[in-house]
Amino acid sequence: MSGRVIVAGSLNMDLVAEAPSLPRAGETVMGTAFHTLPGGKGLNQAVAAARLGAEVAMIGCVGRDAFGARLLDVMRADRVDASGVRQTDDAPTGIAQIVVSAGENCIVVVPGANMTLTDADVSSTRIDGGDVVVAQLETPIAVTERLFARARDATTILNAAPAAVVPDSLLALTDLLVVNETELATLSGATLRDDSALADIVAAARALRRPAMTVIVTLGRRGAVMLAGDAPPHAIDGHAVEAIDSTGAGDCFVGAYAAALATGRPGSALAFANAAAALAVTRRGAAPSMPRLAEVEALMLI
Ligand code: RIB
Repeated sequence: MSGRVIVAGSLNMDLVAEAPSLPRAGETVMGTAFHTLPGGKGLNQAVAAARLGAEVAMIGCVGRDAFGARLLDVMRADRVDASGVRQTDDAPTGIAQIVVSAGENCIVVVPGANMTLTDADVSSTRIDGGDVVVAQLETPIAVTERLFARARDATTILNAAPAAVVPDSLLALTDLLVVNETELATLSGATLRDDSALADIVAAARALRRPAMTVIVTLGRRGAVMLAGDAPPHAIDGHAVEAIDSTGAGDCFVGAYAAALATGRPGSALAFANAAAALAVTRRGAAPSMPRLAEVEALMLI
């Protein structure tokens, strides 16, 4: 079965400073470069899915300002249907202040227009049985919940990022939950570090699972692990790549996984998303770092 990827989520302009180290509290660090790049978890996921062969529709909200206009242009260039993206005079386009150093980053998001998304915005998009509906946590959770309630015949993917506690009522409507270790720790209450043992990660993910829900935990350079049905955990190793900028890698994973489902390739979705995310960290920026289909297929053959 094939369908569209419908992404309801954030669109931000990323204000990115490159620096030799990430500043500590109270410290000023001299940067080496500055970029203004398209981002936002929702837009990144939409661009990833579109570049990887899916038909994609975006639902979101931007300000009626220069950043908003540029984000609309980005969607046009990547063939993302932006008819569900509203422009508002009531708030500016969301921004993310990002510092990147040696492949790592820290981010402050000012959501602006993203938090003005309403039920009316998500109710006008048609949802069919084969569609894959994707959301994150940079837009109002209550609106996501009502969107997922409308999408019971479709597949719903919740990327619970940035880390936050999610109401049970939303998890109950989620078919696939995708989190990283930090997000898993926040959601489950478990104590996890970046290098926690796989057994501890699996135990925390199991505690979160609802009947019929699949959980994927992305593990950065260590790959990912999936819990689905009664099957034992399926862990997949990361690809050895040179990390330039990890911003948007998790979004790439989610967009790629959604594209694999929507284009009728569920069996290889985990390996596909894992390879796509590995390519994204080798490039600067979030939306601009999303790979193309041929590149992902080539990496999967190695
Ligand atoms: O996941 C990366 C994204 O988080 C950035 O593009 C930034 O805009 C924030 O939403």
